[in-house]
Amino acid sequence: MTKVTVCGAAGGIGQPLSMLLKLNAQVSQLALYDIVNAAGVAADLSHINTPAQVVGYLPKSKDDKDTIKEALKGSDLVVIPAGVPRKPGMTRADLFNINALIVRDLVANAAQACPQAAILIISNPVNATVAIAAAVLKKLGVFNPRKLFGVTTLDSVRAETFLGGLIGEDPASLKGKISVVGGHSGDTIVPLIHFDKTIAAKVKALPEQAYKDFVHRVQFGGDEVVKAKNGAGSATLSMAYAGYRFSEYVLNSLANKEIPFSIPESSYVHLLGIGASSLSQKLGGPEFFSVPVILRNGQVQSSLDPFSLVQTEQEKQMIETAVKGLLTSISQGTSFVEGLK
Ligand code: NAD
Ligand code: LMR
Repeated sequence: MTKVTVCGAAGGIGQPLSMLLKLNAQVSQLALYDIVNAAGVAADLSHINTPAQVVGYLPKSKDDKDTIKEALKGSDLVVIPAGVPRKPGMTRADLFNINALIVRDLVANAAQACPQAAILIISNPVNATVAIAAAVLKKLGVFNPRKLFGVTTLDSVRAETFLGGLIGEDPASLKGKISVVGGHSGDTIVPLIHFDKTIAAKVKALPEQAYKDFVHRVQFGGDEVVKAKNGAGSATLSMAYAGYRFSEYVLNSLANKEIPFSIPESSYVHLLGIGASSLSQKLGGPEFFSVPVILRNGQVQSSLDPFSLVQTEQEKQMIETAVKGLLTSISQGTSFVEGLK
């Protein structure tokens, strides 16, 4: 019996992500919470012929504090894509003011209704919203750092797609052979693509500018979609795929399934809390960093040191640059919660 709750289930990411979760036979209960249209999305998905029982949860009024708790109660996995997306000209950091409150409230409810659940944060700016979630869970005395995940999988998905095109490899075959670490915004996103000898040789054969363009495209891939959607939001379908890919990883670990690739998925996690404080020190102190994580039973069992994957001076420098950006975002998230009564 596995219960998954999606908060923000009626949104651009929420709907296709909920559909993918409905297709997973391991999910027995799928709770869809949103402040709009939750019942409609649930009714629609409930007709798909898979075992998950789908229930929609829509607050009855602005002051309704019970419906969200009902949705979350007993969840093993909570996925949060609730919040506002970017429009052209905005950075993810511009979303902070509104999404910080949304994430804070949803995570506070999860802390009370399902303190044992793994929580996946998709809402931007991930670099800061995960720090908010951690601070809220700490304040409420239920922080298990091994179960809090910032979802950075879309950066890996993009890196696999763009590199595959560039070196003539099937992008799907690159899963686990390249890795993206750091954070989820601009130059905090660090693709590491030289540790596999065959791939490194192919990358070295490319003109230097092609490698630089690849890195830029991975770091700013989100902007490409925001621009193309021209005011209608940011990545939703590729994000639903990526969010599902990480959710499935958590679900597989709950079912003790083997990890089928050598370098596991990365996630933006609390380094000190997952037993990687020496990495935090080596990096210069960030509390959070996206690193490859090995999961067991829905939580981080161990992580890989990204420096073990770094092969070039450029990759090392990108990590240093990422840390600078992350320190500011993390402290913004933490102070936001500490400043609240
Ligand atoms: P959207 O506007 O289409 O959907 C957001 C949904 O959240 C809406 O249905 C809205 O009603 C709901 N919502 C708002 N406040 C809520 C609350 N308090 N409780 C429950 N639901 C609430 O937006 P989207 O395109 O789905 O994007 C959602 C978020 O995901 C944005 O912040 C976006 O920047 C982020 N995002 C992250 C990544 C990533 O890689 N981590 C990728 C793409 C988008
Ligand atoms: C992305 O990387 O596509 C998301 O973080 C959405 C955005 O704002 O770019």
